[in-house]
Amino acid sequence: MSKTKTVFVCQNCDFISPKWIGKCPNCNSWNSFIEEIDEKSSNKNSKTINEAIAGKPVAIGEIVRTEFYRLPMPFDEFNRVLGGGLVPGSLVLLGGEPGIGKSTLILQSVLNLPGTKVLYISGEESETQIKLRAERIGIHNKDCYIYTEINIEKILATIKSINPDVVIIDSIQTVASQELTSSPGTISQIRESARQLQEYAKMSGIPVILIGHINKDGDIAGPMSLEHIVDAVLQFEGDNNHFYRLLRPKKNRFGSTYEIGVFEMLGSGLKEISDPGNILLSGENIGLSGIAFGTITEGSRTLMIEAQALVGNAVFTSPQRSSTGFDNRRFLMLLAVIEKRLGVKLNQKDVFVNIAGGLKINDTAADLAVIASVISSYFDKPLTENTCFIGEVGLSGQIRPVSFIDKRISEAFRLGFTNIIISASQKSDVKKNQAKISFVQDVKEFAGKLFS
Ligand code: TYD
Ligand code: MG
Repeated sequence: MSKTKTVFVCQNCDFISPKWIGKCPNCNSWNSFIEEIDEKSSNKNSKTINEAIAGKPVAIGEIVRTEFYRLPMPFDEFNRVLGGGLVPGSLVLLGGEPGIGKSTLILQSVLNLPGTKVLYISGEESETQIKLRAERIGIHNKDCYIYTEINIEKILATIKSINPDVVIIDSIQTVASQELTSSPGTISQIRESARQLQEYAKMSGIPVILIGHINKDGDIAGPMSLEHIVDAVLQFEGDNNHFYRLLRPKKNRFGSTYEIGVFEMLGSGLKEISDPGNILLSGENIGLSGIAFGTITEGSRTLMIEAQALVGNAVFTSPQRSSTGFDNRRFLMLLAVIEKRLGVKLNQKDVFVNIAGGLKINDTAADLAVIASVISSYFDKPLTENTCFIGEVGLSGQIRPVSFIDKRISEAFRLGFTNIIISASQKSDVKKNQAKISFVQDVKEFAGKLFS
């Protein structure tokens, strides 16, 4: 069989080269060449502009809107993120670090879809390995077929012969086209395989889920090339040392990217958590110095967070500052605010902050809890019991308002936080509440209310 002709295309300026080159002679960018199938040689039906037949655009008012059916997943938390279920013909990319539970989430979902014919293609694990895992999770759908293969042409032929209702590719990095010379996992292979699968999904109306590994930077490998091809990008995240997992949509053509799904990893697979308010709290440190509580919002839900700080005499000449789960630059800014506005001398101190639970948070409403934990550790005094700190801190030391203040207060109160400290500027936003609410203007006023 004669191979399809391939060319190397600069991803920066579309310059075409017959062989791989490190530096683009046209735009001078480095490492920008990616192997692609030569459209000119592969597309024999291509016509010049004079030969092509004109298409027929439809006036927007004449388009009939049909409600599409969605295949609901057995997890409500998964459906919430998908926007109600899998849309026919859609291509969904599920990304996450190795070992986070991507295969488990998908396998468990399809094993609990009785009456749905599933083809699970794995390039990572053997049939026996998958069977063992499936038994651990519980097999409630016997119509689930496992196929271990990495050749995309063979995979597509098999899909067509089996004609399943859902197709899973675990993972997109392991599959490769025989038309390209590059090895599996390279951007050209990932992109070509995804393109072929997308063509199949759109033509057949069968949803295809692609599992993809995330690299160190938090990007799904080859994301630039896949994000525009797929209909939805979901990210599965969490800490390997912790049990819960968040499913976060980064893109969704059929739903919002606002909602998150929360799960817990157990010995028998994943369990969804529909009331995740206090999952991030360790519950072990109440009454210790350096511990402060706050809130973050994720989609329509509010989660409590526990900031843990340790301030100690510097071991080295340059003191260490490190934050886990909280943006490091924001952390340094908050330390500067404490030093400048409160006169707390941190220049000879090592300061460490950790957000319990292993998640990365980026809600600035957590600023106040972080500051409270650092001050508490500095003075080695526990903060007033059952207090929750909700507010953003500005460079001037002002406590700034945050979104959804009422929801945050009621969630904190529901979970046992009877004292709540928020920005004075939100006095008029707060509805009558059973919790004791203190309003503070700036960090100075705030520091006066930390200890009972
Ligand atoms: P896995 O789904 O293989 O991760 P990924 O596909 O993202 O690489 O999950 C691997 C981890 O999950 C592994 O460390 C074991 C753990 N696990 C459980 O704790 N309980 C279970 O029931 C299963 C199937 C896996
Ligand atoms: Mg896996």
